[in-house]
Amino acid sequence: MITRNIRTITSSGKSGESLVVPGWIRTVRDSKNIVFISLNDGSNIKGLQIVVDKDHFNNPDVLQQLSVGCAIVAKGVLQNSIGQGQSLELLCSEIKVEGTSPEDYPLQKKRHTLEYLREIAHLRPRTNTIGAVERVRSRMAYAIHNFFQERGFVYVHTPIITASDCEGAGEMFNVTTLDAEALPRTKDGKVDFERDFFGKKAYLTVSGQLEGETYAMAMGNIYTFGPTFRAENSNTKRHLAEFWMIEPEMAFCDINDNMEVAESFLKYIFKDVIEHCSEDMDFFDSFVEKGVKKTLLHVIETPFVHMTYTDAIKELEKNNDAFNFKVKWGCDIQTEHERFLTEEVAHSPVIVTDYPKAIKSFYMKENEDGQTVRGMDVLVPRLGEIIGGSEREADYTKLLARIKELGLDEKNYSWYLDLRKYGSCTHSGFGLGFERAILYATGMQNIRDVIPYPRYVRSAEF
Ligand code: 4AD
Ligand code: MG
Repeated sequence: MITRNIRTITSSGKSGESLVVPGWIRTVRDSKNIVFISLNDGSNIKGLQIVVDKDHFNNPDVLQQLSVGCAIVAKGVLQNSIGQGQSLELLCSEIKVEGTSPEDYPLQKKRHTLEYLREIAHLRPRTNTIGAVERVRSRMAYAIHNFFQERGFVYVHTPIITASDCEGAGEMFNVTTLDAEALPRTKDGKVDFERDFFGKKAYLTVSGQLEGETYAMAMGNIYTFGPTFRAENSNTKRHLAEFWMIEPEMAFCDINDNMEVAESFLKYIFKDVIEHCSEDMDFFDSFVEKGVKKTLLHVIETPFVHMTYTDAIKELEKNNDAFNFKVKWGCDIQTEHERFLTEEVAHSPVIVTDYPKAIKSFYMKENEDGQTVRGMDVLVPRLGEIIGGSEREADYTKLLARIKELGLDEKNYSWYLDLRKYGSCTHSGFGLGFERAILYATGMQNIRDVIPYPRYVRSAEF
């Protein structure tokens, strides 16, 4: 007797094989002498049909214990199925019940809304949709590592706890062991962070970029892949307070090389998912977002359109009447504008470059015009921004001036400035929001459904 997961059994099993198959019951149907069980072990969508012929079954007394959600181990022989929807089924001779599941099991067979499933996030991976999302998430993480490893990038683990604000946007969560009810004070009445765990203020990182840069300036091409945290008060379908980010950083690489890497990277991971998660992708295409596969194939095949911020604003101004936020040069581009550019203007992903320096982070390289910086955002239809990146300011004096101009504490960035002092070079990088990439690949609508336990404003359940 051998044990294999259902995905392997349905793809390579042979009629006549004896098997032991563990899993959870999705449905049980009793028809006269035959019981049909749909068994799922999380390895694929369809699961395996288990057929019990009551006249040839070793332990019929277990049958009344079987219900939706029950954990069982089914023993039997694979046979070709005459029923619709599957080619193989297990003719079962014996069932061991490992865990029963009473009637109050919340996932009885009916359609549940994704909102409801969020309330039972500990059980929702047992549904088709969340199971498929998680398999795609897992495969995509693997593809991301493959992409960079195949190209010789070094995977660097940047810290989760940090003292510097990478984006300078003040959206950091504090990390402290001070007692909020009895804060130590300095003589002038301020909170005394000298007495905190790290002897100074510390935060959860918003991005691994700055530390990533230090490794790129030694090892050439590196990437990070880890959780990042933002105390952004944005209650939207594309923002989380805890999300995963992939951040490549490349030495001797300018903004044009950077854009090329970003484009081939996105194409690579979407192609990989289409190829390796075909059953799950068919499910998303049929039940979640009709046409999602076609959209991805279009992204894979079409060269991305390049547009400067200034040109993008010209296009957007023509449509200002239709926007909630009217645009003019200097303003930040909102989701509605990003979508307009990709969906109505370019009909493909767009890379917007050369943003006004006032709306971008301090580390971006300034252009000769003194007004714009070498930032680049990749926008995709339906979602808007999926990647943000830039060529970095490699000049010590300019970077220091920018840090001072923005009122950032120079002390916190001394090590970052050192990179510009000792062997500085052209370098660039970008960040891909992992959950945004999953949203895009699956056609799911809400970012809260593509991470196991979403954290957002006023919600840190489980
Ligand atoms: O554009 P952002 O803020 O860029 C950075 O953090 C840079 N340090 C990256 C770099 O150059 N190394 O964030 C990068 C990406 C965004 O394009 C978006 O996909 C995602 O991270 N992102 C979020 N995803 C979910 N929830 C949020 N609150 C996000 N904020 C950014
Ligand atoms: Mg951004």
